[in-house]
Amino acid sequence: MFFWGVSTSSFQIEEDCINSNWIHLHPKYKQSTRHCHFVQDDIELLKNLNVNSYRFSIEWSKINPEPFVFLIKPLEFYQNLINDLIKFKITPIVCLFHFSMPLWFQNIGGFEDEKNIEHFIRYVAFIKSNLSNVEWWILMNEPNVFAFTSYLMGIWPPYKKSIWTFLRVTKNLRLACERVYSLFSKDLDKVGITINMIDFHGSSFIFYPFIYIWDLFFNTMPVLDFIGVNYYFSYAFTWKDLYYVNDHFFDRFIGLPNHSDMGWPIEPKGLYRVLEKCFLKFKISIIITENGIADKNDTKRRHYLSEHLNVVHNILKEKKIELIGYFYWSLLDNIEWEYGIDPRFGLVEVEYNNDFKRKIRESYYFYQEWIRNFNI
Ligand code: BGC
Repeated sequence: MFFWGVSTSSFQIEEDCINSNWIHLHPKYKQSTRHCHFVQDDIELLKNLNVNSYRFSIEWSKINPEPFVFLIKPLEFYQNLINDLIKFKITPIVCLFHFSMPLWFQNIGGFEDEKNIEHFIRYVAFIKSNLSNVEWWILMNEPNVFAFTSYLMGIWPPYKKSIWTFLRVTKNLRLACERVYSLFSKDLDKVGITINMIDFHGSSFIFYPFIYIWDLFFNTMPVLDFIGVNYYFSYAFTWKDLYYVNDHFFDRFIGLPNHSDMGWPIEPKGLYRVLEKCFLKFKISIIITENGIADKNDTKRRHYLSEHLNVVHNILKEKKIELIGYFYWSLLDNIEWEYGIDPRFGLVEVEYNNDFKRKIRESYYFYQEWIRNFNI
């Protein structure tokens, strides 16, 4: 079965993440989509969309708000969600760490300190022994983006800019993945991680060192069941671009045709190129775990979706790449990290000033039809 789905992440849509490292630093947090309150409506949206899978994450800071303290109550929310999804024949794909972590964990050094990996293992062990009916797991979302943005660019908590810390965190994230991997059953669980792949075509030599580091990351990793690829755009970096390397690199493209509201270039062919590269390297199943566009007025999303879905269609016909799923990012508008709620990725709009009401965008119906008619 091919997975047709949508993705979300806990901190970006849930209220009450009061113990997360992001909330204390995020002035716009209060405007979360209140997903926990509207969960039944959101499940209804999934059901009507015709998806057969839904990727979401568990909020580590809710389950493990203090060191050595693990709470069952917040886990019940996820268990009920999972049970409901299964009732509607929607396969849950559960991610264990999507950028947000308990504030206490960050305060003791987070993944900067190898000793702290123990805490992550304890949290995952708690989830594994108390959550049932999940077969598909993502250990971490985009450890490459997390390490790069938080420890090299310094624009995400804990806002550090140090090549050495970046390298140490990358190494510890890899160790953390390797160590928690043994908590999963080889026969019953399907385990992967997701990585963000920008299609750096042309002369993007600036990124070669990072690509090398990432090769090291994976070369010693246990063989996973799948790799999740998050693909948004292509960009050919040149020396001139070094001048613009700062927090808002893409802002200068905002408003141009064929670019998203965040200035990200739209390039469906890049999706093929990154998947091809990824499959050549890992030779395991790939899921497109995120692909989407910030498009407040929904004028470009339909085109974006249809072009990227055509690439998916061709890959499935061609059968060279073992692609087993596609997830649009995102079901709902949400908190786009340091940008707050301005970028709108949702197939469904969240009316923040109207009691967080959900308003279906036209592109939702396009994806719904695509899934209904898909046949290969
Ligand atoms: C992240 C999401 C984010 C999306 C759009 C991905 O890199 O996993 O959390 O919202 O990109 O920026």
